Amino acid sequence: MTIYDPERVKARYAGLVEEEWQRLEATPRGKLMYLAHRQALLTHIQPGDAVLEVGAGPGRFTKDLAELAGYLVVTDLTPESLAYNQAKMTELGLAARIAAWREADICDLSAFPDGRFDAVVCIGGAFNYVFEREDDAFCEMLRVLHPGGVLILGSMCLPGIVHRLLKVCLDEFEQYGLAATQWILETGKQDGVHYPSGHHAHFLTRNDVLALCRAHGVELIAEYCGGLLATAGDEQLERAYANLQIWQLLVDAELRWGQSPGLSEAGDHMIMVIGRR
Ligand SMILES: C[S@@+](CC[C@H](N)C(=O)[O-])C[C@H]1O[C@@H](n2cnc3c(N)ncnc32)[C@H](O)[C@@H]1O
Repeated sequence: MTIYDPERVKARYAGLVEEEWQRLEATPRGKLMYLAHRQALLTHIQPGDAVLEVGAGPGRFTKDLAELAGYLVVTDLTPESLAYNQAKMTELGLAARIAAWREADICDLSAFPDGRFDAVVCIGGAFNYVFEREDDAFCEMLRVLHPGGVLILGSMCLPGIVHRLLKVCLDEFEQYGLAATQWILETGKQDGVHYPSGHHAHFLTRNDVLALCRAHGVELIAEYCGGLLATAGDEQLERAYANLQIWQLLVDAELRWGQSPGLSEAGDHMIMVIGRR
């Protein structure tokens, strides 16, 4: 059964463009998630690299990549996100550092030749929407890398999401029943069959990514938590953020602990760095 529905995904993100631009800046939780992802980018992308950003959204990370990369192409499925990204990068004076903005689905990167890029960056959740086309998307993102290149894959992560959003999980149990809750906990799939309304996504586990790596003959070379203290609860994070000294200590701890491979699944998002042989 086909459950990947690109039109549904586009409709969702067309209505969330401004919110998405603010998401990693407007709250202490968002700021920690931003810093965790940025650290992974700065660790694995070398200055001057050729980079393809997929599912770029309005551009919270495009601005960092534009400063780092020697050649950057920015893509997204949703035309509204891409148009916002281009306008925002122009406003920030970064447009000249971006080679092109292109509409593209991660399941089909045929606009780009084999081996063109040093790094593909897919963070923030695009990969969580492709369901039965995960193999196609993974294969496409690897294809456009040259041997030795890296795929930086950030995705919404099942254990961390359930931990932070257990209340939502219990509300959904009351709405959709035990079978739906059992299904999502066992498969990570919040799909139209079990959850007729609402957000449809496949929340991944580390094992899901390892299985993809095995199937495609590539190696997981590093892994990070995409926001560990970010799950501590908004009230306490706001309290910490009000004091610059304690906030800085927590940011330092976030960035240190988030590098521990044993904690990669502990946040809403995990960041897996995959090396193409
Ligand atoms: C949550 S936003 C993340 C944006 C950005 N990467 C970030 O982390 O701030 C997810 C983005 O992925 C895009 N997206 C979802 N499915 C996609 C697909 N199959 N191919 C390309 N982009 C996709 C959406 O249009 C949206 O802009």
